[in-house]
Amino acid sequence: MLTIILAAALSVATPVLREDNIPQIVSLLTLEEKAAILVGCGSTAFDGIGRNDVGVKGSAGATHPIPRLGIPSIVFADGPAGLRIDPVRPGTDKTYYCTGFPIGTMLASTWNTAIVRSVGEAMGNEVLEYGVDVLLAPGMNIHRNPLCGRNFEYFSEDPLLCGEIAAAYVQGVQSNGVGTSVKHFALNNQELNRLHNDARVSERAAREIYLRAFEIAVRKAQPWTLMSSYNYINGVHASENRWLLTDVLRDDWGFRGVVVTDWGGGYDTAAQIHAGNDLIQSGSDARYNALIEAVKDGRLAMEYVDACVTRALELIVKCPAFRGYKFSEAPDLEAHAKVCRAAADEGIVLLKNHGALPAGPDGVTALLGVTSYAFIAGGTGSGDVHRPYVVDLRQGLSDAGFKLESGLDEFYTAYMQDERWRCKMIDGNNSWVIDRERPIEVVPDELIKQAALTSDRAVVTIGRVFGEGKDRDLYYSYMLQEREVELLRKTADAFHAQGKKVTVILNVGGVVEMASWQDLADAILLCWQPGEEGGHSVASALSGEVNPSGRLPMTISRRYEDEPSAANFPRVFEDKPFNYSFYRRLEGNKKDYVVKDIDYTDYAEDIYVGYRYFGTKARGAVAYPFGYGLSYTSFRWSDLKIEKTGSLSEDSKCLKVSLTVTNTGKRAGKDVVELYVKAPGRSIDKPERELKAFAKTPLLEPGQSCTVQMTVPVESLASWENGAWSLEKGRYRIIAARNASDKGLRKALRL
Ligand code: GLC
Repeated sequence: MLTIILAAALSVATPVLREDNIPQIVSLLTLEEKAAILVGCGSTAFDGIGRNDVGVKGSAGATHPIPRLGIPSIVFADGPAGLRIDPVRPGTDKTYYCTGFPIGTMLASTWNTAIVRSVGEAMGNEVLEYGVDVLLAPGMNIHRNPLCGRNFEYFSEDPLLCGEIAAAYVQGVQSNGVGTSVKHFALNNQELNRLHNDARVSERAAREIYLRAFEIAVRKAQPWTLMSSYNYINGVHASENRWLLTDVLRDDWGFRGVVVTDWGGGYDTAAQIHAGNDLIQSGSDARYNALIEAVKDGRLAMEYVDACVTRALELIVKCPAFRGYKFSEAPDLEAHAKVCRAAADEGIVLLKNHGALPAGPDGVTALLGVTSYAFIAGGTGSGDVHRPYVVDLRQGLSDAGFKLESGLDEFYTAYMQDERWRCKMIDGNNSWVIDRERPIEVVPDELIKQAALTSDRAVVTIGRVFGEGKDRDLYYSYMLQEREVELLRKTADAFHAQGKKVTVILNVGGVVEMASWQDLADAILLCWQPGEEGGHSVASALSGEVNPSGRLPMTISRRYEDEPSAANFPRVFEDKPFNYSFYRRLEGNKKDYVVKDIDYTDYAEDIYVGYRYFGTKARGAVAYPFGYGLSYTSFRWSDLKIEKTGSLSEDSKCLKVSLTVTNTGKRAGKDVVELYVKAPGRSIDKPERELKAFAKTPLLEPGQSCTVQMTVPVESLASWENGAWSLEKGRYRIIAARNASDKGLRKALRL
């Protein structure tokens, strides 16, 4: 009887976590329990990518449960191009593959927020159904320099495009009732020495460029979490930076979610909690003990711990784990593959087309380039995905009814057997920070000559894969290799001698040098890393089944040296280990900022990133401008209208812009309207133009028109000056353009 009374008493005394009793639960938690919630369960194998076997095998990390108060563990898993968990598990023949979606850069190349949202919805469903609570995505650092190893995960050089794509992605994922972790907050724009590099940036460039993208995503989509980055910002580590994580993120932007460290990021646990970095992942005993000691010896006031615990519990009560969701472990991968295909279709950018495309599937196609037979679906590191399959271009063309020239097909098929094995042997030994080994570009000259006689056209794929933990080498990654240029030259000579066309497919994670070889190609299709359905999407673009509608989310300069950040970006040195991530691991927080671009990086170009630089300070010196992309049809724009709306209060004033787009060609197609604004630039220096809105049309049939509507909040035209936003009065020019170099349709107005 006594035990029953005691049990009853106990059950009354110890409440369990509910959405509406968080303060009470916080008051009941011991210091040790609070530290256990804030510091993660640790990674079983720190291979650089968060690995965790608590909850879901192969996920990235988890929080500790506190069963006595009904607080469950929640699980985090990567990554931006799809959920990354172990595809197989010991003791069962069930598999746990996840859809490999197009990389972030390709999602941005669609300029289509609706399709990006649909990718998020599908990806978020896999997060839910495989039992994960928070997806560690999207990655959205600005493309400051083309050699950054993680640019494939990121969206753009422009903060508006980046922010809008990220917001759509977050809304899509979170519509499933699971969380996202928008990363890496902030200024994580290089991989070299990423754990220790100090990003030195003006507050204006931070607010208008590097933080602005995150601000748009936070204000529009309220991501459940943000991930603080590995680097320092003006001498203070991002995860220990109260200005960044509390003053800007929460006080200025109204962020109501949780900040989680990058895995193993930061050093001073007390400083992290004080700064407002709520969760320490993946977590370790050392971090746990450091937190407890800091409270006990008075270095960290309990109020900061309680603020983080409160936010952590507010996150936990939203998660499927708390709601007791019965996940199926059987998401509809077939349906999601269709979403993947549709997004890849829209992200392909037609860079050049001198009468070559669309072509096929009739006739005979000569398919060249090792990458045509080993397509690259995505990049390496935590942004990788265990996909159920990858459709290479050979398969994509065959499935679409293309007849392949047999001599080349037989050669490459046999050659790739050996090459795949050789690469696998090399890759098998590599830690994840080194690029995947690529097959060596080889083909006998006589096969090219023979193919030129019997085929109707040539298609050559150039591939590049790189990823987390290291930046790209200028010569081995950004420039084309001599073998590749030779292949293009021999193919062009042989096929042009027969009056036949050559199309180059760029299956790359980021920009490569174009100017030196592009004249060899009659057509160039940039298909990025399109995910598991890549071969089908490229075949559809080649045949015209799909009319390419992608636009560049970054500038492609004529030479690397023309890049505004080239003088302030690290160059990978042959004589040093590639993965400087761990290069300058100095004891504790002590920093000796002695090595330029490694210990610190000077963002000397300030706000002049990408087209903001090329359009203002280096006119015309680009291979392909930001926003560029061709179509198989043509469009006419007319009736640009601008209307000032909104109430008297400054911050709700908007410019309503409309424009009519007509398909004047013979094929259905989609167009993209890019709305730039040119500010007076008298009282403060301003770029020649800045993107302030964009719209993608629905599919327009030949002769069909539609009117696109865009809204520009007036406050988005302000500049950061003397510690605040200020709007310059005067004459503004609104420019509806096809790309950053296009004169476009213009209207002036006074603000
Ligand atoms: C990695 C990455 C981060 C990833 C995390 C977990 O080091 O920087 O993007 O989400 O750790 O794998």
